[in-house]
Amino acid sequence: MSSSALPLSRSSRPPGDRALLDAEEAKIEAAPLVTLAGVSKKYQNGVAALAGLDLCVRTGDFLSLLGPSGCGKSTALRLIAGLEPATSGTIEWAGGQASGRPSIGFVFQDPTLMPWASVESNVFLPLRLEGWSFRTASERIEEALALVGLPDFRKAMPRELSGGMKMRVSIARALVTRPSLLLMDEPFAALDEITRFKLNDDLMRLKQEMNCTVIFVTHSIYESAYLSTRIAVMAARPGRIIAEIGLDAALPRKEHFRRESAYLDACARAADALHGAMDAKDHM
Ligand SMILES: Nc1ncnc2c1ncn2[C@@H]1O[C@H](COP(=O)(O)OP(=O)(O)O)[C@@H](O)[C@H]1O
Ligand SMILES: [Mg+2]
Repeated sequence: MSSSALPLSRSSRPPGDRALLDAEEAKIEAAPLVTLAGVSKKYQNGVAALAGLDLCVRTGDFLSLLGPSGCGKSTALRLIAGLEPATSGTIEWAGGQASGRPSIGFVFQDPTLMPWASVESNVFLPLRLEGWSFRTASERIEEALALVGLPDFRKAMPRELSGGMKMRVSIARALVTRPSLLLMDEPFAALDEITRFKLNDDLMRLKQEMNCTVIFVTHSIYESAYLSTRIAVMAARPGRIIAEIGLDAALPRKEHFRRESAYLDACARAADALHGAMDAKDHM
């Protein structure tokens, strides 16, 4: 990312302003970005994917939606993105109802790249849809590819890339509009564990560089505990939030975080919540 796009660094601020700014930033970070209240979603085939879902996402959160397959995680993400309407309930943005929705980048489970187009053409797509010329977008494409660690792959074709690299291109495509909210739907689920760990680390770094909020869907307890500042645990039938777990450790975290008590405690609490929900269903 070009330095002009980054906010003024803390160290370059006059010392007298710093305490005040820190307090203000803490306040801003705690401000709700989007609040879902009593949200339900019933599909036309009669499936009640979500019912009574309450969730508050704060600016600056790295929030994971964690739950078993079929519990409504993707549905919740699509409702937040405005790709589908809720059947009932409200989704309120800080800046006003639907009009207050910030700029959003969406990363799907599959990279969904156009196989006939180069990496740079794939990353260009969201800007092309906004009417940008390729020449004007060139710097933005470069910035997005640098953020995901692929600065030298502009001209490559998708078939020349590994699974992890394809996902990096997909993330670059979501970042090229400089979104303030990044929605990610199990982006690393299909990758091997080593690649996934590397992308986890890179994602935390780029969240800090982009200064954005992330809502991250996963069914991995370990991935959610490593990445998140907050985990919202979901249960199915009906899809809803059954527990929230906060993790204070600053991002980006490093490998040794996986051995710290905060991480292990979050894993245990998330596992307990998921098992509790399953046991309750067994007795229904
Ligand atoms: N477009 C759709 N039409 C009908 N049912 C759907 C649709 N999308 C999802 N569902 C159903 O809604 C439930 C939740 O799905 P989904 O949100 O994809 O869960 P998850 O992402 O947690 O696996 C599932 O039972 C699924 O079969
Ligand atoms: Mg899903």
